[in-house]
Amino acid sequence: MQIYLDTANLAEIREAASWGILSGVTTNPTLIAREKGADFKAIITEIAELVDGPISAETISLDAEGMVREGLEYASWHPNVIIKVPSTTEGLRAVSQLAKHGIRCNVTLCFNSVQALLAARAGAFIISPFVGRVDDTGVDGMALIREIAGIYRQDREITTKILAASIRHPRHIVEAALAGADIATCPFKVLQQAMRHPLTDRGIEQFLADWKSRMSS
Ligand code: E4P
Repeated sequence: MQIYLDTANLAEIREAASWGILSGVTTNPTLIAREKGADFKAIITEIAELVDGPISAETISLDAEGMVREGLEYASWHPNVIIKVPSTTEGLRAVSQLAKHGIRCNVTLCFNSVQALLAARAGAFIISPFVGRVDDTGVDGMALIREIAGIYRQDREITTKILAASIRHPRHIVEAALAGADIATCPFKVLQQAMRHPLTDRGIEQFLADWKSRMSS
C-alpha cells in the first residue's frame, strides 16, 4: 500500500518527502484555505515539483462543464496533477470527459460502495472513501474499504485504485492496508505518531548508554 500526504503545507511535504516514503499528495479546498494568502496554482505546482507522483487538486464547480474546465486548467500546470471531483452524477460525467483528454481523476467524498463502483465504471483513476468521516457517523469506515476492494477484485476491467481518505490515527493506516486499500492518504501528524514508540526511544537510550560505558571501561 502506498502512502500519500494529506496536506497543502509545503514544509510538511518537504519533511515527509525527505523520509523517502511519499508516493503522492492529496489536497482539498479546506487544506488549501489553511495556507493563508498562498496562490492555489503556485501551491499545486510547487507540490508537484517536490513529489513525483499523483498530486490531487480539487475542483469547486458543481456542474460537469465547470469541473472539466477547471480540470483541464489544473492538469496543464504539471504532468503530476490529477483532478479531484465529487462523488455525484456531475462528477461521473466530468471523469469520463476528462479521461478522454487523458486526464486522471480522483473521485472524492465517497461514502458508499455503489458510488465507488460507478466511479470506476466512469474511468476514475482513484476512488477516495472517507474512513474517518464514516466512523464519525457510528458506522465502521474500514468496512467500506473492504466492500469496495471485494467489488473491484471480482471485476477484471476495473483498474481504479482505492485510496483510504480521512485517516485519523496510525491504526487506520494498518487497517486500510489489511482491508485492501492501494493507498492511504495521511495527515502529517498521523505519520509522525506512527513512527513514535516508547520502546524504540528506550532502546536507543539503552544502546547509547551501553556504548558510552564500553568506551570508558
Ligand atoms: C483527502 O483526499 C481528503 O480530502 C481528506 O482525507 C479528508 O480528511 P478529513 O475528513 O480529515 O477532512
